[in-house]
Amino acid sequence: MADAAKPKRVLSGIQPTGRPHWGNYFGAIRQYIDLQEQNDGFYFIANLHALTTIRDADQLRQNVLDIALDLLALGLDPDKATLFVQSDVPEVSELCWVLLSGTPMGLLQRCVAYKEKVDKGIPADAGLFTYPVLQAADILAYDSELVPVGADQVQHIEVCRDVAGRFNHQFGDTFVMPKANVLDDSAKVPGTDGEKMSKSYDNVLPLFGEVKKIRKQIMRITTDSRPMEDPKQPQGDHLYDLYSLFADAGKREEMAAMYLRGGFGYGEVKKAIAEESEAYFADARARRVDLEQNLDHVHAVLQAGAERARNVAAGVLLRAQQACGLK
Ligand code: TYM
Repeated sequence: MADAAKPKRVLSGIQPTGRPHWGNYFGAIRQYIDLQEQNDGFYFIANLHALTTIRDADQLRQNVLDIALDLLALGLDPDKATLFVQSDVPEVSELCWVLLSGTPMGLLQRCVAYKEKVDKGIPADAGLFTYPVLQAADILAYDSELVPVGADQVQHIEVCRDVAGRFNHQFGDTFVMPKANVLDDSAKVPGTDGEKMSKSYDNVLPLFGEVKKIRKQIMRITTDSRPMEDPKQPQGDHLYDLYSLFADAGKREEMAAMYLRGGFGYGEVKKAIAEESEAYFADARARRVDLEQNLDHVHAVLQAGAERARNVAAGVLLRAQQACGLK
């Protein structure tokens, strides 16, 4: 039973497969930062998971460092939360093996990331197939109670609960049962084509990068071809949804009223999105520039984070090994 006075262990990870985008921020990273205040936050860069897609060593190393810079610039505070790189905690890979044994093939065959690839005829490797079990190990290794994620990860948290439940049932209570934490208003941020924003769909709006380039990407967001004068429903419109990520309640209401009145161009909405988003991320951009000048600090943060994380994971791994007879 969790002690009410004890801060909750919150854990989440992000893959270093490219630069983080608005979906990553509003679905997940914003939660990491909010939750670090009252809880014991463990946040990691999932480079073992990224190995299924990134096959260039220098690129992978660079991406890991970039994501560390991004997270710190966005407000992840190493004095409040633990930030680390997944592969710096080998206990997780060891726990993954313990969990793989006992995980039914059928459970993994139903997982979307693998299914989507296979359905599209893209060859999938065993890493991708077993990916959800590694994710389960990530979560279980730290006795995580809450896992802040976007909607697309909920299935993986269900797999984790399933895997943990089976182990606990066979070997006695060993793992803490985690819960996903998904935000209602940004569980599935749309991309420039109106589909879910995703690095693999080539429809992302990045958090960092050249402002002019991002503005161009915003101006290219797809829209329908209804006449300007027609009134439009804001609900379910991806431009309105993107605007709503940044605008306060008053501005959102004004925008909704403009939609319902009609007589506006989508270009106006895009311009407003560009302005609001630039203002929203301005501080983070400035902080990132400073951090780039201080990479020693970033490496020290990751090292301290790895030590803290390993301490916790070693205890949980031993508990699991004793439960199933490996120790
Ligand atoms: P990844 O790297 O794809 O995404 C990182 C986080 O961003 C969220 N996200 C979104 N949220 C809302 N709208 C979107 N369009 C959107 N796109 C991405 C994701 O839900 C995620 O929370 N498998 C994970 C990484 C991982 C992990 C873990 C997460 C590995 N181990 C353990 C939690 C716990 C992934 O690929 O996330």
